[in-house]
Amino acid sequence: MSNSSEAELLHTFKGIPFTTRSSPELLKSLDTFKAREDDVLLVSYPKSGTHWLAGVITKLYMTQVTVTSPIEFGDISRLEELNKLSSKRIIPTHLDYNMLPPNFKNKKCKMIYISRNPKDTAVSMFHYYRDNPNLPTVDTWTAFFDLFLKGNVVCGSWFDHFLSWAEHEDEKNILFLFYEDMKKDLPKVVKEIALFLGLNVSDNDIQDICKKSSFSEMKNDTEKENSDPNHTVCALTSNRKLIFRKGAVGDWKNYFTPKQNIRFQETFNEKMKLNKM
Ligand code: A3P
Repeated sequence: MSNSSEAELLHTFKGIPFTTRSSPELLKSLDTFKAREDDVLLVSYPKSGTHWLAGVITKLYMTQVTVTSPIEFGDISRLEELNKLSSKRIIPTHLDYNMLPPNFKNKKCKMIYISRNPKDTAVSMFHYYRDNPNLPTVDTWTAFFDLFLKGNVVCGSWFDHFLSWAEHEDEKNILFLFYEDMKKDLPKVVKEIALFLGLNVSDNDIQDICKKSSFSEMKNDTEKENSDPNHTVCALTSNRKLIFRKGAVGDWKNYFTPKQNIRFQETFNEKMKLNKM
C-alpha cells in the first residue's frame, strides 16, 4: 500500500481507520445524534452482505421507509439531514458497538448485525481495495492478508468489530445474522427478520422477496441504475457496481495459502476464545 495515498484516503478516529468520506467533525459529533425509537440499525463490518440485507429489509417493509446512507458517511451536515427525514429510518453503519451513538442504545432501537466468515470477508475486501478509488491501493493478496489480520484496514480489526457487538448478543433488540445462513436458506432468515421487525408477511411475499434478492437479480438491478450516492449503504463507495462481485461462500479457498490459513486460524482461535457465538 503506498503511504501517500493511504494518508490522503484514510484517517484514524479513536484508533480506527476511516476513509475521508467520514469527516472527523461528523465522527466527533456522532454522540449527539438523536435516535428515534422506531429507527432500525443495519450493522456490519464491510463486505459482510450489508447491501443484500438492506435489499431484503426494504422489500419486507413494502411501505415507505428510507434506507439512509450510513450514519458515519459525510460531513457534519449529515446529522441534520437525518434529523429532517420524516419517514421511518433504516440506518446502515459499519461502526463498532463502542462508537455507536448512545441514544440508539438508550432507546433500545432494533439493530440487525450481519456477519460473515472473516476469511471470505477478507477476500471480498481485498477486491474492494483494488477496485474502489476511495480506498488505498494494495498490490498483492499477501500484502492485504497481513493488513487484514493486523486490523490495519478501513473500519479496523474484523475481530474487534465482531466482538464489540457479540458481547451484546443476549440483548433482545439486537438480531445477529450470518451471511452463510442467508445463502443456505434465505426464506428462513427472511422470516426471522420479519418476526424481529414485527412485520406480517405471507409465505408468497417471502418467496417473492427471496427471488428478487438473489445475487443475479440484485446485480442486474444495479447494472440498470445510475450510481447515486444516496443509494449505497456502505460509507466507502457510492458505486454500487463494485458491491456485487461473486456472492459465494468459500471463495477464500482460492486465495489463502495453507500457511496463511494456519496463521488466520491461530489468530481466530486466540481472539475468539471467550466468545460463545
Ligand atoms: P463478494 O465480494 O464475496 O462477492 P457488503 O454489501 O457488505 O459490501 O458485502 C458485499 C458482499 O456481499 C460481496 O461479496 C457481494 O457479492 C455479496 N452480495 C451482495 N449481494 C448479494 C446477494 N444478493 N447474494 C449473495 N451475496 C451478495
